[in-house]
Amino acid sequence: MAKPKVFVTRLIPEQGLDLVREFCDAEIWEDELPPPRDVLLAKVADKEGLLSLLTDRVDAELMDAAPRLKVISNYAVGFDNIDVAEATKRGLPVGNTPGVLTDTTADFAFALIMATGRRIVEGADYVRAGKWKTWGPRLLLGQDIHGATLGIIGFGRIGQAVAKRARGFDMRVLAYDPYQDPAVAGVLGVELLDDMDEVLRQADFLTIHTLLTEETYHLIGERELKLMKPTAILVNTARGPCVDPDALYRALRDGEIAYAGLDVTEPEPINMDSLLLGLSNCVIVPHIASASVATRGKMAEMAARNLIAGLRGEPLPNCVNPEVYQA
Ligand code: DGY
Repeated sequence: MAKPKVFVTRLIPEQGLDLVREFCDAEIWEDELPPPRDVLLAKVADKEGLLSLLTDRVDAELMDAAPRLKVISNYAVGFDNIDVAEATKRGLPVGNTPGVLTDTTADFAFALIMATGRRIVEGADYVRAGKWKTWGPRLLLGQDIHGATLGIIGFGRIGQAVAKRARGFDMRVLAYDPYQDPAVAGVLGVELLDDMDEVLRQADFLTIHTLLTEETYHLIGERELKLMKPTAILVNTARGPCVDPDALYRALRDGEIAYAGLDVTEPEPINMDSLLLGLSNCVIVPHIASASVATRGKMAEMAARNLIAGLRGEPLPNCVNPEVYQA
């Protein structure tokens, strides 16, 4: 029997590709950059499965262009690149990769907390620039992580994993998440507040772990940044548009907050003329929080299994719109 035709929009790790190749007739986009929009639309025309990345917009136009499509499998836990409501309307299951990247992403959020609090990137740049002449009693003084107050916005899997790490640093941890059960927070020794502003006011470090939705678009803007301490540090490993970049630039420039560590930006990649790039108190890295060898491999396998299940008409092991099965 002929294998189902699928399009994989980038070279994901081999453990995923091996599975896809075994069960599917796979066309794989091997460029470093994502397929251009017109190419993507053409490639899906005869495909039954799509293994997409967060850099691919999967919307009604794409679904119209793919009349044989049976499943969309996203190689990410986030799925804001997909119009899930539209997919659901068409009975198309959408898969994602939750769980396997939780600890890796939490590790990285903590790495940014440490790097910004202790000015590690500035220190490395200082050495590289040949400025290190002696030990300096006032050189690159940063802020202690231990004993500080950590504010977590979005207390799902990753937010909770960050809280566990914070306990090892004797931090006081506050969280805001209107959808979370206070009992879950209690077990982790976290105070779940029902007022986000109060978390913003008290946090020495604020870390974002929400999905990107209409509700969380520019969740942290001018008003919110003004509520924060002038010594506060903002870390974002969630999605760039959760933070208003212009407001963040002004807050960092004017000393309304002290520092930011960004794994994600709006837009991605960041424009090279972004004023944020000119600030020494802003560390920006290219959306790599889940980028460990082991985790990216597990994500690939999970995405492949979602894809194959969808092609077989079986429920996806990780489905973001299980309503499609309730017909
Ligand atoms: C995700 O999975 O949503 C991350 O942003 C990339 O791993």
